[in-house]
Amino acid sequence: MPLLSLKDLSLTIDEHQILQGISFDVEEGQIIGLIGPNGSGKTTLFNVISGFLKSSGGSITLGGEEISNLSPSQRAKRGIGRVFQNFGIFRDMTLEENILVALEALPRQQRKDLGDLKEVVAGTLDMVGLSDAGKKKAGSLSGGQMRLLEIARTLKAGKDLFLLDEPTAGVSPKMTGQVADIIKELKSNGKTVLIIEHDLPFIASICDEVVVLDVGKVVLQGTPAEVKESKELKEIYFGADPTT
Ligand SMILES: Nc1ncnc2c1ncn2[C@@H]1O[C@H](COP(=O)(O)OP(=O)(O)OP(=O)(O)O)[C@@H](O)[C@H]1O
Ligand SMILES: [Mg+2]
Repeated sequence: MPLLSLKDLSLTIDEHQILQGISFDVEEGQIIGLIGPNGSGKTTLFNVISGFLKSSGGSITLGGEEISNLSPSQRAKRGIGRVFQNFGIFRDMTLEENILVALEALPRQQRKDLGDLKEVVAGTLDMVGLSDAGKKKAGSLSGGQMRLLEIARTLKAGKDLFLLDEPTAGVSPKMTGQVADIIKELKSNGKTVLIIEHDLPFIASICDEVVVLDVGKVVLQGTPAEVKESKELKEIYFGADPTT
């Protein structure tokens, strides 16, 4: 059974069909890349999966259970963690506090399973090389550091399935490598990741499979190599070569 299964998912807002007949499965332990031109519906699909938008039709199952009528927090409790396209970091709070609020929002059992929260906070900061900055305000971080903090926080607080929306946006090349390492580490821990990125070489380097959206529909699906070589991909990007 796939961890996440989308069947004929659609979303209509004000008679505007934003997502149409989206169907694909995500197996446990896989890293799936979601790509497509600006406005193709990638972030909207994440909103529908995480429950911030209610789908107009179709089904979403997580571990075999239908979740499309559940609230975002109920879905989060079932194991969906998310990194937003725009930073979900509280700039006036310290780094430690930013991590703690996410941990404290977890269901009690999951929080208990993590052990000593102070150690988890320290481990999270260490994961992204910010051990010395725990008492600093998050607003003092660079864009790239903030992004890493958000990713690390989501990874610690999340459970089974991670939705990462452009985690490398605004991140330096060196830090992009760090993000890739963190995602690979997740995979080696058996976690499942759905990741939106415009950077195709980055996607190809970490993903098992790639799903391509265009105007709200899945138009291509395959291994990174298959997708990269397909003629359709170039057409979708209006003749532009997305690998350059
Ligand atoms: N709440 C909303 N109400 C109306 N239209 C919306 C809403 N949310 C998204 N859209 C529209 O849905 C389409 C898909 O947007 P979305 O943000 O999902 O694209 P995207 O693939 O994430 O693009 P990008 O790569 O630029 O982040 C766009 O045309 C957008 O204007
Ligand atoms: Mg988007």
